[in-house]
Amino acid sequence: MRVEKVREDVYAVTENLEGVLFEGIWEMPEGVSVNSYVVKGEKAAFIDGIFGWDGSRESMNEALAQMDLTLDDMEYIVINHMEPDHSSWIADLDVLGKELDIYCSKESAGTLKAFFGREDRIFIIEDGDSLDLGGGKRLHFIKTPNIHWPDTIMTFEESSKVLFTCDAFGSFGKLDHLFDDQHTEEERASFETQQIRYFSNILGTFNPMVARGIEKAKQFDFEVVAPGHGMVWREDPQRIVKDYERYCSYQKGVAKEKVLLLWGSMYGMTRKMVDVIEKTLEEEKMDYVSLNVTETDMGTVLEHGWASTGIIIAAPTYEYKIFPPMAAVLDEMGRKRIQNRLALYTGSYGWSGGAIKEFEEILARNRMKWEVLHAMEFNGRPLDKDKEEFTQHVRELCKMVREKMDK
Ligand code: FEO
Repeated sequence: MRVEKVREDVYAVTENLEGVLFEGIWEMPEGVSVNSYVVKGEKAAFIDGIFGWDGSRESMNEALAQMDLTLDDMEYIVINHMEPDHSSWIADLDVLGKELDIYCSKESAGTLKAFFGREDRIFIIEDGDSLDLGGGKRLHFIKTPNIHWPDTIMTFEESSKVLFTCDAFGSFGKLDHLFDDQHTEEERASFETQQIRYFSNILGTFNPMVARGIEKAKQFDFEVVAPGHGMVWREDPQRIVKDYERYCSYQKGVAKEKVLLLWGSMYGMTRKMVDVIEKTLEEEKMDYVSLNVTETDMGTVLEHGWASTGIIIAAPTYEYKIFPPMAAVLDEMGRKRIQNRLALYTGSYGWSGGAIKEFEEILARNRMKWEVLHAMEFNGRPLDKDKEEFTQHVRELCKMVREKMDK
């Protein structure tokens, strides 16, 4: 647990996490930071839990001492969101020997009981409620459901103008320095991949609710954005707000000027066409990423899928359907609402086709609304005429991606 002062009487407690899967699914090659907060008025409140606390009274006392607090000063817990990366420490509260009042949404209260059996001293907040900590510190509660679970709220402290946003405005990537102004412009820019990875993997499904929550949060005159993951934005809080608005907008189909080439190949026949596609994308000077679906974790595919305006799928027919790893990834892209993309499909078949049919079924059942410019199966290896035909469609895709950027 690392304690950092955010503003007067507002502290962050942060810890880097590596070598685990987020939600037991998502790889985090660069790790993640988990941030919780303490606000000190006449009475003090924990916000978003104390991740990384080892459950001992001694270490809690040690952390609080760095904020010039003791357990006697602590009166409240505000639960912005019950996912255990923020709330699991509540299970160890008894060791403190002090009962704290919990303020949370009614949805959080239900989960609090289900997860930890806690039912007493719980105060359900409604949208717009506030809690006076004394000493000029007042917390305002903003209901922002589904950023990321239905229970989620944000909390705004009015005198420090810090907005505690929980999963919103978060990012993957461990941090040696917590604040935006401690990073060079180059470092902040390179962090964007971690932001998009987090957004697409964790929040993509809830994109409309994220956009709605951001609009709601903007009604508060915050000067600091303090998320549950990633940098605390105190120099340029509007930067992460604008980034998130842009990520939300990608769902409409205009993302980066970029193409994701996602492919799989059993015996190298489809791979021959992938070589042609890669060469064409290079000739077109199109920014692209080529990912072999059997060698790439799902989170990486989602990251690039979310950021790409064009998507080319190359995968063979397998037992009259599409290559199974591709079917699984396409379904997940559908669940994460990667929608409205310009797309192409191609792939080899041996005995009969079938991949295109399932490809279209997956797009339809997930309501992905991809504009498939061309879908082409070829028997065995791609012949010159197949390569020439598909090359023209790749060139057309590049043209249309660029036209979308200009609109
Ligand atoms: Fe950071 Fe949805 O938990």
